[in-house]
Amino acid sequence: MSTAPRACVIGWPVEHSRSPAIHGYWLAHYGIDGAYVKEAVAPEDFPAFLSSLSKHGYVGANVTLPHKEAALRAVQEADTAARAIGAVNTVWLDERGALRGSNTDAYGFMTNLDSSAPDWREGCDVAMVLGAGGAARAILHGLIEAGIPRILLTNRTVAKAETLARDFGDPVEVVPWEDKDSALSACRLLVNTTSLGMAGQPPLDIMVTALPANAVVTDIVYVPLETPLLAEARARGLTTVDGLGMLLHQAVPGFERWFGVRPEVTPDLRAHVVATL
Ligand code: ATR
Repeated sequence: MSTAPRACVIGWPVEHSRSPAIHGYWLAHYGIDGAYVKEAVAPEDFPAFLSSLSKHGYVGANVTLPHKEAALRAVQEADTAARAIGAVNTVWLDERGALRGSNTDAYGFMTNLDSSAPDWREGCDVAMVLGAGGAARAILHGLIEAGIPRILLTNRTVAKAETLARDFGDPVEVVPWEDKDSALSACRLLVNTTSLGMAGQPPLDIMVTALPANAVVTDIVYVPLETPLLAEARARGLTTVDGLGMLLHQAVPGFERWFGVRPEVTPDLRAHVVATL
């Protein structure tokens, strides 16, 4: 039997996942004898699948929708980020054979921001996050860890924003969805985590002109790569950061755990994944 390490992405459905394109690129690039495949696993089968990962021939996995919260419950040990975010997206078996879990979405978001807009932290007293789903949770964790003192959180369904604000505490302040434009003039960073602007969805309606001239605007949507929000921000001369970089960077820690090489996010990797969009 081959001893080449194998990892997978577990989802339901999983067909749309770009993770095989990312990890497949790195395996070939670093000349590693390993594999990364898709596993479609239904929610009722997920806990059993995860707890017998090695029997299925895997050293680890990415976990995607709808399993990220269930993965937190299923791992034997979850790191600080996973516990704060309430979800696991990366699992691996440690040297004792215990199943460990992490959430690398906050790491991916922050690393992408740091590499695409290196000055973004300068004078970043206020950031605004749009949306209150799983991605918003990860991004709030990242921004709080980075020490951003004030984060305005706004969401169409205000109760979901209030829950997040309660979970994350002081730096997070809820702004009613209807009032978001009037809070923009103080924001050095604007983050869209809603699905608005995604292909097939309506664009996000927000007054980009109200942002300060040094604002950085980022979207976690990456289909299209340049959302209407990013296009408008760019046309206004603002710094923009697209969502694909977050996806690429969040994959780094998992690859290193499973295959023993810390991979690089390069323009060539990006071009490879863009070709699959
Ligand atoms: P994810 O886990 O990727 O964050 P999600 O949990 O489905 O995804 O969250 C999607 C986000 O997009 C939510 O904040 C959602 O707002 P609601 O909480 O009010 O549902 C937001 N969203 C989706 N469609 C929207 C729309 N037409 N207008 C405003 N917000 C929208």
